[in-house]
Amino acid sequence: MDTVVTNGIIVTATETYQADIGIEKGKIVALGRGLQGAETVDAQGNYVFPGGIDVHTHFELPFMGTVSADDFETGSIAAACGGTTTFVDFAIQGAGESLHHALEAWMEKARGKAAIDYGFHVAIGDMTEEVMTKEMAQLVEQGITSFKLFMAYKGTFMVDDETLFKSLIKARELGGLIMVHAENGDILHYLIGKHIAEGKTDPIWHAKSHPPEAEVEAVSRAIMLAGLAGSPIYIVHLSAAGALEKVKEARDSGQPVLAETCPQYLLFNTGYYELPGFEGAKYVMSPPLRDEGNQEKLWQGLATGDLQVVGTDHCPFNFVGQKDMGKDDFSKIPNGMPGVETRVPLMYHFGVNTGRFSVNRFVELVSTNPARLFGLAPQKGTISIGADADLVIFDPEKEVRLGLQNLHMNVDHSPYDHITVRGYPILTMQRGHTIAKEGDFVGEVGAGQFLRRRRIEI
Ligand code: URP
Ligand code: ZN
Ligand code: ZN
Repeated sequence: MDTVVTNGIIVTATETYQADIGIEKGKIVALGRGLQGAETVDAQGNYVFPGGIDVHTHFELPFMGTVSADDFETGSIAAACGGTTTFVDFAIQGAGESLHHALEAWMEKARGKAAIDYGFHVAIGDMTEEVMTKEMAQLVEQGITSFKLFMAYKGTFMVDDETLFKSLIKARELGGLIMVHAENGDILHYLIGKHIAEGKTDPIWHAKSHPPEAEVEAVSRAIMLAGLAGSPIYIVHLSAAGALEKVKEARDSGQPVLAETCPQYLLFNTGYYELPGFEGAKYVMSPPLRDEGNQEKLWQGLATGDLQVVGTDHCPFNFVGQKDMGKDDFSKIPNGMPGVETRVPLMYHFGVNTGRFSVNRFVELVSTNPARLFGLAPQKGTISIGADADLVIFDPEKEVRLGLQNLHMNVDHSPYDHITVRGYPILTMQRGHTIAKEGDFVGEVGAGQFLRRRRIEI
């Protein structure tokens, strides 16, 4: 064998056990005791998890008059250091462009830069006859098996219900999955305009212009349309407890509704928008942070299974030069925050250390379910014979403050600066190669491989 990882406690979504991991040509070929290889990596009694999979990133995204601060190189290096070995980013179709054009543009951004494996969803912004009758099918053949539609961002990305409905029907025929940003864009558009006209320009008005009811309504509508289309649906970045209720109701009735939340919605509340010195702008994103009380409901949803995935919606903007574009008008603050590097340790610290869920459920939420739902299993998302040797050696006692000094994301602030987590990746491996060690990236820029994903089976 090329490499053997010894002395680790292997954790998958279903099991926790002590064994060595034998690796050959990047794949796991043996699990057992006393394995021998050309190289030995000693896990020293720490956990060994399957590499994290983040199915919601926006590297180098042109958005709201600027571009998100991490490109595919800096973002993927940060991901590796934080225990993530695969990401799925969004290629966005602009008006008048084909889906192929969007995909090629995003492939080009990633080429020679991505340091970990990656795939793409395509966000449909301009639904045409060509897209519906040809392009979606062609993309599924090319391994792009999920499509995102925005029910918000009126005037740019927002689609109407007919487009959403038709896409759901088409995706069902093709074995694809429709993902939605579920907020009622018309309501948001009206409230944003009203508040700005009234001179209400501070970051807190971003939250007041994106009320939870607008999310609950859109989630409810998306679920109805998916039910009518006979199609599964995946709700991205769910933030409001009321929206989770709608997901739960649908799932309890047997409808294949899937939903993701993100660490920011679990850990922060609307109080952050009132931080002094325009600091609240760091937390401006859509949907916004919600009032206290929502967070604990989301944690419960993760524990019970009503929420299946934790993504990041990683979309960082610098405080100086980007967030401050909205100093006098919250609607000009670029929406989004960093997170690709901090997701795995945050979910371990606040999920497992607090006893909210088991270490196996943690693995399921950050790796196994994203792989399964997005056509990456069994190659990714678990530790089993034949899977890629994407592994994270995780020291459950290591304490790390999530401040800029310990992070690699290309952004001038850390929204998690005030948090010290217990439990952190000490080594990350991709296909048997060590790519991050003790907080440093030691891999190769451009070594990440594009992943053709399978059709979705739910
Ligand atoms: O605020 C956010 N979420 N920014 C990124 C774009 C999106 O809506 O996912
Ligand atoms: Zn979104
Ligand atoms: Zn997003």
